[in-house]
Amino acid sequence: MADDAIIRTTDLVKTYRTPFRRKRVEALKGVSFEVGKGEVFGFLGPNGAGKTTTIRCLMGLCQITGGSATILGQPVPSRAARQRLGFLPEQPYFYDYLTVGELLDLGGRLFGLSHAERTGRADRLIKRVGLDHARGQALKKFSKGMLQRSGLAMALINDPELVVLDEPMSGLDPVGRKEVRDLILELRDAGKSVFFSSHILSDVEQISDRVAIVVGGKIQDVGRPRDLVGHAPLGTEVVLAIPPGDDGGVPAVVADIKARADSVRVAHGELIVGLAAGVDVDDFLAFARGHHGKVVSVTPRHETLEDLFMRRVEAERTRGAQKAAS
Ligand SMILES: Nc1ncnc2c1ncn2[C@@H]1O[C@H](COP(=O)(O)OP(=O)(O)O)[C@@H](O)[C@H]1O
Ligand SMILES: [Mg+2]
Repeated sequence: MADDAIIRTTDLVKTYRTPFRRKRVEALKGVSFEVGKGEVFGFLGPNGAGKTTTIRCLMGLCQITGGSATILGQPVPSRAARQRLGFLPEQPYFYDYLTVGELLDLGGRLFGLSHAERTGRADRLIKRVGLDHARGQALKKFSKGMLQRSGLAMALINDPELVVLDEPMSGLDPVGRKEVRDLILELRDAGKSVFFSSHILSDVEQISDRVAIVVGGKIQDVGRPRDLVGHAPLGTEVVLAIPPGDDGGVPAVVADIKARADSVRVAHGELIVGLAAGVDVDDFLAFARGHHGKVVSVTPRHETLEDLFMRRVEAERTRGAQKAAS
């Protein structure tokens, strides 16, 4: 039966053996997830989590140690699937003396495109990634960001059904990051599936239909961002304006507030108070007002994807430290 998942990995294991020291690195310890058609799927994990290894295995660039993977319905490695997908490696390497137009022409030839198709597509893509002004320059004159854009254009030259991007926002400034995010959304709107990795939470959270959090070679969570985070309120944040103490310094009531709160910090002359979930907020507000505090805002706090991500990263650090100590 045909597999309609665009990407599927089942208990994928990859162990690297370093040749001389005979050390084994278990980069992937049983990775399972699937990407559906038309999805933007964000693969989020800290450095060393196994993102690039997973992608390299999917692209047929490294040998799988255990488990299995399919891409566009074909078991990897698959030459047929490779024709129908676009790939941006983590550190794309290009011939220094080519121009971006020549690079894309070369890419188009590798996919067997006609001359007319190659030139038409290259022209559109160069404009789309904002390199029209740099057509005459050799790639070796390009900045990191411009090379990244060239790589993105190259990944799209065969008009792929699936685009696999390894850290596509890396080396870009905030404007460049936003442009890549917009491009990914545009690809999805054109009916393509996008699988991309990043260690930057906000890039993943903003555009992904679904995400997988990978830490320590294992998938910790998979799902829609809003389904992954807990919905019970974690507590309440209260911002107070408090008149200064008699000597012009910290008002005496701050000590009492600290005793009632989870956290207290000062920003722009206001107190930002974190109350735990069980605390009676009305009671706290009455107390603060009783000490001439003016309530600026009251906001319930919910778990964010960042809270979850940090929890997973911390847990893995603790496991690593325990393993090293035993
Ligand atoms: N060629 C290799 N040989 C040995 N170990 C490797 C190799 N490539 C990656 N690793 C190790 O595998 C783990 C996962 O790396 P990687 O997949 O590059 O992570 P990420 O892309 O999430 O930063 C890391 O511990 C890394 O050091
Ligand atoms: Mg990587």
